[in-house]
Amino acid sequence: MRFIVAIDGTAGSGKGTIGRAVSRHYNFKYLDTGLLYRAVAFNLRTITTEFSSISEKMILKSIKGIDKNLLELKELRNNEISEIASLLATNFCVREKLLDYQRNFANQKGGTVLDGRDIGTIVCPDADVKVYIDAEEGVRAKRRTIQFKKQNIEVTYQEVLRNLKKRDRQDRNRAIAPMLPSSDALMLDSTNMSIEESLGIIILRINEELKKITLNS
Ligand code: DC
Repeated sequence: MRFIVAIDGTAGSGKGTIGRAVSRHYNFKYLDTGLLYRAVAFNLRTITTEFSSISEKMILKSIKGIDKNLLELKELRNNEISEIASLLATNFCVREKLLDYQRNFANQKGGTVLDGRDIGTIVCPDADVKVYIDAEEGVRAKRRTIQFKKQNIEVTYQEVLRNLKKRDRQDRNRAIAPMLPSSDALMLDSTNMSIEESLGIIILRINEELKKITLNS
């Protein structure tokens, strides 16, 4: 069996927390695709600061340098890397090179959960369940600031809010694979919802789809 759950949404909307919880619930494999863009940003920063004029060779070198240890680095989460990742995400070559990795991951046997910005629209348009999560930006910034504090990352609410707004604008308005809900996605506004409430709604939807597969097999 192959079963794909695609979770897209705005920065800090809780899609990562929810994606991980869904994967634990069903014992599905999980990929945070934003981390890939962050890892490329981290590696590229050691080669250049001119992110608007990067070569294919530099991109390939940065992608080759991605490994499990890098993906676990706390520094990948900071505001500076977030901003570079969002900028690099406008680059066609970066997106194209990361596409194969994401699709290979999604298509493994068993269930997979991927979260990002273009999973339901570009990476896995045939995903079994698609979700798009958003929340008011003030609420997202507050949640993110609390997360940073827990990880001992020094940052103010105002800095986080500025970063979220800038990235949302950039991610939404880029020419290639913009952040956008797929027309068949379950739309979730988590402004006034707990993680458990959002998770409950998504689980109901996944169960419905899993039931259809069982009935048809
Ligand atoms: O999900 P995140 O905040 O960690 O993602 C960091 C940046 O990476 C985000 O601002 C835009 C980019 N990104 C993307 O363009 N497409 C994805 N599927 C995931 C992330």
